[in-house]
Amino acid sequence: MSAAILDDGLLTVRVERRAHEAEGICSYELVSADGAALPAFTAGAHIDVHVAPGLVRQYSLCNPPHETQRYLIGVLRDPASRGGSQAMHEQIHAGATLVISAPRNHFPLVDAPRSVLLAGGIGVTPLLAMAETLSATGAQFEMHYCTRSPERTAFRERIERAPFAAQVSFHHDSVQSLDLPALLVRLRQQEPGTHIYFCGPEGFINHVKASAATLGWPEHQLHLEYFGAAAATAPAAGDQPFDVKLASSGACHTVPVGATVLQVLSAAGVFVPASCEQGVCGTCLTRVLDGVPDHRDLYLTEAEQAANDIFTPCCSRSRSATLLLDL
Ligand code: FES
Repeated sequence: MSAAILDDGLLTVRVERRAHEAEGICSYELVSADGAALPAFTAGAHIDVHVAPGLVRQYSLCNPPHETQRYLIGVLRDPASRGGSQAMHEQIHAGATLVISAPRNHFPLVDAPRSVLLAGGIGVTPLLAMAETLSATGAQFEMHYCTRSPERTAFRERIERAPFAAQVSFHHDSVQSLDLPALLVRLRQQEPGTHIYFCGPEGFINHVKASAATLGWPEHQLHLEYFGAAAATAPAAGDQPFDVKLASSGACHTVPVGATVLQVLSAAGVFVPASCEQGVCGTCLTRVLDGVPDHRDLYLTEAEQAANDIFTPCCSRSRSATLLLDL
């Protein structure tokens, strides 16, 4: 029997267990409210958690993907939180009921002779599911887990007990931090077909991206997911109002400074699916038929942004006076 999925693709789960994993980090074990199996997922997948009315956050699943009776997520209490992680930590305890989406995967593993997993802080969660999958299938891989200190290293005991423990190296800012260029040079020389997966805060991601680019790593061998979006929706110096025009109706709406396209369209009764509202998840992707978007998201690749035929209305703006949208 599978868990009941509501009309809008959501399902109700119960928090079976909440555990302290590290300083400021809790894990939540979710089971279906009716005790049935949950929808299957693959390593790298995340779920939307409806933390409170109007507050939806994405969390990666970090339990072994063959498990069907539970989802496990890890939540860092972020002092800069816009409410999501704080509400999770303060209001969601064992026994609570949550509405979640079925898992989606924008960060899947691909076939590769070797995989390297680079985790920055709580960005470990999708990579932990990947390590479980790679280990279970006997694939060649290694994992490097960077945190500020041992006290801030979530899931450390689980990793140390895992069958893949010997393939994981822990690195802390204070002691033995990761020599990333040396690692990338070694892999490039010895294992040029390696695919690299990295997840963490923006600074960590940018560091890995820049180091890999400098050392000539092909983009298609790099796979990344940001944890915690940059202030994608914050107004930037030089922002200007612009118009969005809807191809279906010809209706035109002005997007003022300080508001997003998504907010303006929503206020006008035009529905665009959205989730993170931070330019991270890709849910709101909308086709651009004319005009030049000002991409502010962290979801599209540089090549996809340069094509200018799709954009994320939850955070991106416009370089041209008008954007014609396929809505
Ligand atoms: Fe997530 Fe726009 S809603 S990228």
